[in-house]
Amino acid sequence: MPPAEEVRRRSHSDYIFGKVLGEGSFSTVYLAKDVHTSKEHAIKVVEKAHVIREKKTESVMREKEVLRILGNSCPYFVRLYWTFQDTDRLYFVLSYAKNGDVLGQIEKHGRLSIDCTRYYLAELILGLEHLHSKNIIHRDLKPENLLFDENWHILITDFGSAKILTSENGHNNESSTIDVPEKEYPYKRRNSFVGTAQFVSPEMLTETHSSYASDLWALGCIAFQMASGHMPFTGGSEYLIFQKILKLEYTFPEDFPREIKALVEKLIVLEPQKRLGTSDERKYSSIRQHPFFTVLNWDDLGPPPKIS
Ligand code: ADE
Repeated sequence: MPPAEEVRRRSHSDYIFGKVLGEGSFSTVYLAKDVHTSKEHAIKVVEKAHVIREKKTESVMREKEVLRILGNSCPYFVRLYWTFQDTDRLYFVLSYAKNGDVLGQIEKHGRLSIDCTRYYLAELILGLEHLHSKNIIHRDLKPENLLFDENWHILITDFGSAKILTSENGHNNESSTIDVPEKEYPYKRRNSFVGTAQFVSPEMLTETHSSYASDLWALGCIAFQMASGHMPFTGGSEYLIFQKILKLEYTFPEDFPREIKALVEKLIVLEPQKRLGTSDERKYSSIRQHPFFTVLNWDDLGPPPKIS
């Protein structure tokens, strides 16, 4: 039996709330200190009325469910320690990612070095292998959602757009790469777009399908951005970005590293079934075996390279 303190329900008074770490459309993340242990956490505070008004209840519930499923089973995900609520708000007590996010480091250094790009893509791939093995698609992977913990390891966050595949919603347990009809996505009520335009896969725009391969498209976009400092698909409006995605209209800068280019070209592929990794079972062995990663030991990535 754990000590009584560990099983007791938590509340606002168990934490000293500090600075705002981030603001979402219906939540605010605060730095907070556990008054009993002095451990620092990020607490996501969600306004109930706002969530109901914006019809985001499902997304909030899904985020909690995904975090519950992930638990403490993989080091590359933000962990949910506690949840509690008061009359007006929901509280998610999460791991505190002390070192900001991947976007912040890309902006600080202009781009990431080849070694950093390789290392952090590898952590992301290990995370995705785990997530997909739990039948979950993230659907909003982007550098802002890849946080850094105190030891400069990646913590994947923000599961508000995630999809948990079940036999009821079309998941075929015999195949891990099947496309799942997702009629409600990405256009939800009132045609509002869910996810992030620059990283959305073509099939989510045309067929309103999402599959594990949609996360592999985003992986390709993230690899492009880490190595170049820029997103592959940009434009003055969401519509213009979508047009470019559907036409695969993107170009590599002159100085883009050749070995990463070969990988990106196998991930940013219009047909989901043709993306690298989609025919793999359980582990993304074809991605692991790509020449860009030959110098890595996938069983022990070792310490992170100094960010540059
Ligand atoms: N911003 C949003 N979530 C965060 C977290 N878990 N840690 C640090 N900053 C964050």
